[in-house]
Formats: sequence, structure tokens, C-alpha cells
Amino acid sequence: FTVDWDASAAEKGGWPSFMDKEIHEDPDAVANTLLGRFDERGDIVLDEVHIDVEDFRSIDKIIVVACGTASYAGMVAKYAIEHWVRIPVEVELAHEFRYRDPILTPRTLVVAISQSGETMDTLMALRHAREQGSRVLAICNTQGSTIPRESDAVLYTHAGPEIAVASTKAFVAQITAAYLLGLYLAQVKGTMFRDEIHQNLDNLKAMPGKIQWVLDTQTDAIEHAAERMLNAHSFLFLGRHVGYPVALEGALKLKEIAYTFTEGFAAGELKHGPIALVDEGEPVVVIVPSARGRDTLHNKVISGIEEVRARGAYTIAVAEEGDPDAERYADIVFWRPACPTLLSPLLDVVPLQLFAMDMANLKGYDVDKPRNLAKSVTVE
Ligand code: AGP
Repeated sequence: FTVDWDASAAEKGGWPSFMDKEIHEDPDAVANTLLGRFDERGDIVLDEVHIDVEDFRSIDKIIVVACGTASYAGMVAKYAIEHWVRIPVEVELAHEFRYRDPILTPRTLVVAISQSGETMDTLMALRHAREQGSRVLAICNTQGSTIPRESDAVLYTHAGPEIAVASTKAFVAQITAAYLLGLYLAQVKGTMFRDEIHQNLDNLKAMPGKIQWVLDTQTDAIEHAAERMLNAHSFLFLGRHVGYPVALEGALKLKEIAYTFTEGFAAGELKHGPIALVDEGEPVVVIVPSARGRDTLHNKVISGIEEVRARGAYTIAVAEEGDPDAERYADIVFWRPACPTLLSPLLDVVPLQLFAMDMANLKGYDVDKPRNLAKSVTVE
């Protein structure tokens, strides 16, 4: 009597693919990245980072260097860190940063974000920054990899190994780590009241439960939407504020694994060109900010939906539970529970990860190993 044993299936822990498993690990990736980073008073301690508190205090600019998904995590972090710490944050693709003459001083903190820690473009960018006297902090998921080894400091994300080529749980862990860094800077620089920092941390700690809610309640709706959209040739993704990098990430996921032409835009840019692409039946995915208070941000995005629908678009919204405008104007809505705007990317990306995976599965593609792509890009 023999039992066929497939090592790869065993590693997937019963999930049909690594990608499926890893998306379902999004809540743990956030929770584990927060774990052990507070003292008994609830303040943030980043002892492992090995940058002196005084040096942290002196930082007057941050430049994030990264590629692909990691760069979108950096874009999300820019909104939060500038709001909390009141210092400029630039986000630059590592391969572009390296070939220009960036303005760097010893007070500039360069943050290199990388899941693998082996991306050559990001590594070369960090070397470029260090040669010019700036300190580099790596946000990385892989212990002992080259990028953290060559950085002055490292803040590890604890997402666990990410095997699928399409990055999923690493993205939410990178945002979490960058937010911890932002709130830590606010703490040492005194740009926020202690209570305010603690309130933000409490909100962050509540996110794993909210991501779980999305995974528990939205998967059927997402699968139906993927079935419905299976023959679409192209997609547009729109978002504003923190929803903009989420739109870029949603578009990237669909390109990578479902081989579909997608483009992500800042929703406000629509009227400056991309609206010309909208034709009868064109699917448009829109990240809708919180409806609470129906503020300008929300209303502007909703009017974007109205504009594309008026031109025949088929609209899919990612919106806060119960948002009456999303319900009214979008053809399909993926819901997220209520949360502060700055934290919403941790929820909004989840349905987009699932949607891309469902589309690729329905087309019969290998979601873990998409064509032409490697998990880590170790050449320039
Ligand atoms: C994401 O789905 C991609 N496979 C890719 O964009 C990736 O995020 C990028 O190559 C950066 O990789 P890193 O985080 O390992 O540096």
C-alpha cells in the first residue's frame, strides 16, 4: 500500500494554489508585522532597527525606493507619513532613482521596500543612496537577504514566505511596517499627541479582523464578478488619494496573472485623457473612499463612476459597507467594513487580489507561476 505524496500540495496547506493561501494569510501578515513592537505603555519600540532616536529626530525627508507592488506600498505610506510626521516623502521606482541625481543629505532617510530583499534595481538604488551619505532603512520580508544586509537598518515584515510570483500578503505587511515607521517618527519627533498615536495603533491592530471579514463575506461576489468579466479584453482601475496606489496594484495583479490589459489611473486624471478609452461595456474598477460625511473625496469618486457609466462602462466598486452611492451607481460592489481612510488600502486590495486570482483560474492559467515573470528580479 503506497500513498502518493505531493510535497508542493502539502506546502499549500490544502489551498489550490500558493496565491490563494497567501491571500488568506493577509490578516496574519498584518498581525504578525505588528507583533512585539510595543512596550508595556503601548508606545512603539523599534530597537531592532538600530538607528539612534536622535538620528530619527533629525530626519527631514524620506525617499522610498522600490519596484512593482513594493513601490505601491510606498505610495500608500507617503499619504500617511506626510500627514502624521509633516516631512516630505518621495516615492521613486528604484531603477529611475539610480540614474538621476537625487538630492540626498545625511538627514534624508531612504527607505528601500522589498519582499525578497534581492531585487537588483532596489539594491543598486540603496547603494547609490549610501554612497552619497544617506542612511538606508530596509523594509523587507526575507531575513538575512542582501538588501537588509547592505542597509543601515531593517524593519522586517513578518508575512512569512511568499511563494506565488504575484505579491499579496507582502503588500499589506509592507504598508503595516511603513505605518509603524511613520507613527514611530511621529512619536519621536512629537508631531502627534500620544493619544492620537495610540488611537491610530488601535485602528491598525483592528485591521486583521476587518481583512478577515472581507475574506469571509466577499469571495462569492468576487467569483461571480470574475465569471461575468471573463471575456473582457481590458480593464481600467481608478482611485483617488490612498485609493490611487491601490488602483495601480489591482491593475498590476490582473496584468501579471490573468494577462489582461489594464491601466490604473488617479480618478481625477480621467477627464485629462483616459476617459477617451471608455466605451460600451468597458469594465472600470473604482476604489471608493469612505462615505461617512460624504466628503469631497467620496463625492468626486462617485461622480467619476457616473461619468464612466454615462459612456457605457460596466463599473465595479470597492466601497465601504452600506455606501448608498456605491450601491446606486456601480453595477457590482465589493464591500469593506468601515475604517479610517488611511487604513483602507489594507482592505481594498484584498478583493482585487482575489479578483485577479479568480480571473486567472477561470482562464486556466497557473496563478503561482505566470509566464515571463520571476519571483525576484535579480538582474537590472
Ligand atoms: C508583484 O506582484 C510583482 N511580482 C513585482 O512587482 C514585485 O513586487 C517587484 O518585483 C518587487 O519585488 P520585491 O518586493 O521582492 O523587491
